Amino acid sequence: MRSHAGRRVLVAGGTSGVGLATAKEFAALGAEVTVVSRSKERVDAAVAEVGGRCRGEVLDLRDADAVAEFCATAEFDHAVSSTAGAARGRADDLPLAAARAAMDSKFWSAYHLARSVRLRPGGSLTLVTGHLSVRPGPASALQSAVNGALEALVRALALELAPIRVNAVSPGVLRTPLWDSLPEEERTRMFTSAAQRLPAGRAGEASDVADAIAFLTGNGYTTGATVVVDGGGVIAC
Ligand SMILES: NC(=O)c1ccc[n+]([C@@H]2O[C@H](COP(=O)([O-])OP(=O)(O)OC[C@H]3O[C@@H](n4cnc5c(N)ncnc54)[C@H](OP(=O)(O)O)[C@@H]3O)[C@@H](O)[C@H]2O)c1
Repeated sequence: MRSHAGRRVLVAGGTSGVGLATAKEFAALGAEVTVVSRSKERVDAAVAEVGGRCRGEVLDLRDADAVAEFCATAEFDHAVSSTAGAARGRADDLPLAAARAAMDSKFWSAYHLARSVRLRPGGSLTLVTGHLSVRPGPASALQSAVNGALEALVRALALELAPIRVNAVSPGVLRTPLWDSLPEEERTRMFTSAAQRLPAGRAGEASDVADAIAFLTGNGYTTGATVVVDGGGVIAC
């Protein structure tokens, strides 16, 4: 993997799961990493875990003004948005408030970052989306729409922000704290079923997605792309 020595990387949602793994990966590649998320406790823990020259700040990406204020204070080479919006349920069952909150957490957060972040020449923006955009489930309409909207946003931003490169990584099922609210039995069932169903023979790890993000930031000829990291879920029956 290409060195990122001396590069400044912002990871929104960098205090857990994919974002935390991404922060660690960039730190290992020599970058100066800044992680942001809503909880001070999580920010402090992530800064300690990533180590090196990692810094952190409390920032709620849903707040467009706060994002603009934060972005005015610093330039970055690369920015990543890995915020999550947890809302599960069929469109005719999921309360509208929960659906809108999920859109705020994931779509609007990434949009706020994209419109305000100041990236240096040669830089990139990478958004984390999800396999439900192209492989919907029986109760995934909202999440499918959020991820599809982000992937469309990436293609359009790649033109608007050029020559800054803009890409997406679309994960399948990952073992991350995103699922901590599910009962342990249900989580185990989900990961076991993924391992049985997927050509890759296992559920994904946050580091699988972090690897793809590091590839996209380092590859100067890829933009407007969505890289699928799903163990083969899109082609599996
Ligand atoms: N895990 C999976 O199986 C899976 C599958 C497909 C797609 N994905 C996608 O991958 C991305 C990362 O998921 P993950 O599994 O790493 O989730 P995670 O472990 O729950 O991490 C989410 C991160 O986002 C932060 N965050 C949430 N809302 C925020 C906000 N408004 N402003 C700033 N930070 C915010 C959280 O920190 P705070 O709580 O401190 O704000 C946390 O650091 C998400 O977009 C998710 O939808 C995950």
